Amino acid sequence: MKKLFYLFLSILIFVSCSDSGGEDPIDPPIEPPVENDRPKNMEEYNATSDGLRDYYFEDGYFDIGVAISPQSLDKPDEVALIKRHMNSLTAENAMKWSSIEPTEGNFNWSDADKIVDFAVANDLKVRGHTLCWHQQVPDWIFEDNGVEASKELVLERLKSHIAAVVGRYKGKIYAWDVVNEAIDDGGGYRNSKWYSICGEDYIFEAFNAAREADPDAKLFYNDYNATEPQKRYSIEKLLEDLISRQLVDGMGLQGHWNLDGPYLSRIRDAFDGYAALGVELQITELDINTGSATEYTSTIESKQKSAYGRYFQEFRDYKDEITSVTFWGLTDDHSWLNQPGKPNFPLLFDKNYDPKGPYFDVIDF
Ligand code: XIL
Repeated sequence: MKKLFYLFLSILIFVSCSDSGGEDPIDPPIEPPVENDRPKNMEEYNATSDGLRDYYFEDGYFDIGVAISPQSLDKPDEVALIKRHMNSLTAENAMKWSSIEPTEGNFNWSDADKIVDFAVANDLKVRGHTLCWHQQVPDWIFEDNGVEASKELVLERLKSHIAAVVGRYKGKIYAWDVVNEAIDDGGGYRNSKWYSICGEDYIFEAFNAAREADPDAKLFYNDYNATEPQKRYSIEKLLEDLISRQLVDGMGLQGHWNLDGPYLSRIRDAFDGYAALGVELQITELDINTGSATEYTSTIESKQKSAYGRYFQEFRDYKDEITSVTFWGLTDDHSWLNQPGKPNFPLLFDKNYDPKGPYFDVIDF
């Protein structure tokens, strides 16, 4: 018993000595966390003119973009916010088929031109959105004298639309969302008019036409819920096929996310899976839906702070794969999620053009 007691005592002395450090510590001293000098509150924000583009684009992470309407460019407050924070623009609606070619052969360029001209004048990049989608697409494409158009006619129309749009902005729009949302949530091809008339061929024809119209533009496949495994595997198969034909350069994950999800592990698996195919990644339509709450309470704010904080941490971890992050709107009141009677607060800036709490989490690294 006495022996056991001394054994225990000597173990105790050994452990406490090796823990104490002494004169010659084995572990290096722990460095205090590096304090960054980025704004932590409104006062510090107002004391600098730096913005997201300085912390992310200028510092070698990725582009920071925003989806806008041309009307935004008439409002000095919005223009100031865009210039301070963004280095990339997307047309939220102005480049969709129903905006650009509402009737066959009659192109309506003014809204899209306005955004591109502003970008060129202010040295901002432009992501084009989107050439082939099942929404905001006019019926005439799929009709021929009152009956359903043939596959040949639909593909002809698709090709000439893409040739016109991509051709017009050749050299000014560096990347296009060529096909948007072609896979449904179950992982099959979405049963759109495109698919029911043309089968999957329309996807390849669209990419082909875009490649021909501007061989230097980066071509993206773009989708929502692109982190969900079932959908992801199908998208990966489609990308592999497009890659084998040298028709695609990037995967656009829309990023319409919410306060609780997707889980980081899902996001990471998706980034790994797509990047392993050899395409670049872009987050193309980021917003964080605040759900049914009618007010931006402090509880919602703190959840959104932590959601934005962890998503951007993840994006930074993948800075070699991610080349751009675009917000789907500039301020909460301009968001597509903010409907009359159903407010939502999904973005980083409020209706007064001020940064919200989550802004400070996004830049705190
Ligand atoms: C949305 C716009 O934000 C709305 O203004 C419009 O009424 C409908 O489309 N996925 C996309 C985007 O690829 O084009 C959609 O934009 C949002 C979902």
